[in-house]
Amino acid sequence: MSPLYTFSDLRPPEETLDPADWEQFRKFAHGVVNDTISFLATLRERGAWAAMPEEVRASFNEPLPLEPAGAERAYADFVERVRPYPNGNLHPRFWGWVQGTGTPVAMLADFLASALNPHMAGFNQAPALVEEQVLSWLKELMRFPRDSSGVLVSGGSMANLIGLAVARTAKAGFDVREHGLQGYHGPRLVFYASSETHGWCRKAAELLGLGNSALRRVPVDANYRMDLEALRVLIESDRREAMQPFCVVGNAGTINTGATDDLGALARVCRNENLWFHVDGAFGALTRLSENLRGIVDGIEEADSLAFDLHKWMYLPFEVGCVLVRDAPAHRRTFAASQTYFGDSDRGTIAGGLPFADRGIELTRSFRALKVWMSLKAHGVKKFSRLIEQNVAQAQYLVERIGSEQELELLAPAPLNVVCFRFHPLQSSEPRLNSINKELLLRLQESGVAVPSSTVLDGKFAIRVAVTNHRSRRADFDALLATVLKLGEAIASDPVASEAACG
Ligand SMILES: Cc1ncc(COP(=O)(O)O)c(C=O)c1O
Repeated sequence: MSPLYTFSDLRPPEETLDPADWEQFRKFAHGVVNDTISFLATLRERGAWAAMPEEVRASFNEPLPLEPAGAERAYADFVERVRPYPNGNLHPRFWGWVQGTGTPVAMLADFLASALNPHMAGFNQAPALVEEQVLSWLKELMRFPRDSSGVLVSGGSMANLIGLAVARTAKAGFDVREHGLQGYHGPRLVFYASSETHGWCRKAAELLGLGNSALRRVPVDANYRMDLEALRVLIESDRREAMQPFCVVGNAGTINTGATDDLGALARVCRNENLWFHVDGAFGALTRLSENLRGIVDGIEEADSLAFDLHKWMYLPFEVGCVLVRDAPAHRRTFAASQTYFGDSDRGTIAGGLPFADRGIELTRSFRALKVWMSLKAHGVKKFSRLIEQNVAQAQYLVERIGSEQELELLAPAPLNVVCFRFHPLQSSEPRLNSINKELLLRLQESGVAVPSSTVLDGKFAIRVAVTNHRSRRADFDALLATVLKLGEAIASDPVASEAACG
């Protein structure tokens, strides 16, 4: 068979994706930067969220572009049709789910990371040292030993999955990597997490072949913290039933209410029962940055593995999470796989090997470490600590304001930065309250005034405000409550709206 292409096809000019005219590109790029800075500087002048007009939605059915439209055209499309319609998490009055806002310095770091475009499996390069440096700083902040291991990943779900994977490999009692769980006739591997644990836990149980039923959901107390007595009883009864407990997952900041389990007590249970202790500290772990708040997560430093996000309560742009593993060899044993084309060498580009590939699932990784490294240098830990404290104080302010309004009801303790409440006009049944508050939340989001999200606590629909936002000011919370009261009263007093809400 003759080759598809021959040397004679390589006639100049050969093509590239670099601009033909760098000066022209420089001008274009400066324009993009200027424009983006203006966009960020005027965030407050726009709503927190805007529903997309139908014609904009429909415009995303364009045919595949075969011919070039040019970078200017592509950028104009972004400005017209994408930039006005994000989910809103960069706005000062966005408190939905638990999402960080992003920061200007980290935005530039992401730009620089893409410009350098290093392959972050490892290699003999400065970017790998940047990630190792970031990991040592994070270990120091979390009081993990210097010789523990870690890796930056896409986010909390991935970080938690990795922690649980190491737990499974370390505690299975057989070579789970070689044999897997198919046809395994030993005792059933089970692990424990409170019923308030985030949905990553079920996904991880399923992906690791343990199965959803291996996740033993432990009930919580009135403060939404794991009931330790219930945990002990469950472990004991599972052992009696010839199951093999291998891990307990503790929460530092639950998604629903911001509750933190008694991590010190969980660490003791794990030590006594020879179980792996994993902590999901997606946002709560970041309270370690504050001298005033870190007592909340006492015991976190005793975890065998700890997952947390820097794109939540360190406000960095997506995606960046971290997992730390106390036993570095156990971490490596879970993921290391020799690749013959990546031979070991102490010289040349591959010197040092691919350590990050041996700590997780991904081989090719982005330079997400740069935004952490630059942000910590630019702002310093103390600034982040003050911002986290500011968010907790704002949440407490909101709690106080809710307490002083007759038609508002706090639905759960708010120990950290998550506040769950509802509009509660007098003499309303539970189903009607749920309907009113569901409708109220949607109208609130659609008004563009603010974006909280929701949860259900003991069957009660709650408006949930999770404050991981460095742009929020006290007046923003006043604006939220004023709008909640106004919308709530309008819905409750309008029989049509109330009826629709019930539907
Ligand atoms: C407590 C908790 N754990 C895990 C996660 C999942 O993190 P990610 O969205 O970064 O995957 C979240 C997300 O909000 C969370 O709040």
